[in-house]
Amino acid sequence: MRRCTAIRPLGVNWAAYDTVFIGSPTWAGSPAPAVNSLLQDADLAGKRVYLFVTSGGEDAGKVLKLLSSRVAEKGGEVVGTFHAASNKAQPGEIGGRAATWAATLGV
Ligand SMILES: Cc1cc2nc3c(=O)[nH]c(=O)nc-3n(C[C@H](O)[C@H](O)[C@H](O)COP(=O)(O)O)c2cc1C
Repeated sequence: MRRCTAIRPLGVNWAAYDTVFIGSPTWAGSPAPAVNSLLQDADLAGKRVYLFVTSGGEDAGKVLKLLSSRVAEKGGEVVGTFHAASNKAQPGEIGGRAATWAATLGV
């Protein structure tokens, strides 16, 4: 599903960035509609893109694949991903894992 929803204009000057992080929860096995809207308007040509996805169950990998293909359509290159399922995590665990991941990226 590529359903979009109205989002407030981000006012982002994409040209000012060479690396961007895009995250989404998993909704019905897909990115959330607000993230679809963001991707529709994003100019990712030549950019390095990190993706991060949360899920309640096991669907985050599928969402990462969907987001990866949309980033490629927009000319970006996915250089790293993070995903975590809350059904198997203790409170605070995912935040700690995300921080550890971010610390390895050197950005
Ligand atoms: C409308 C809705 C649909 C969802 N659909 C899925 C799903 O298909 N698969 C899944 O693993 N988790 C699903 N979830 C769980 C969310 O992915 C999970 O709550 C979210 O990633 C964790 O972020 P949060 O702490 O902001 O809720 C759904 C949650 C909502 C609210």
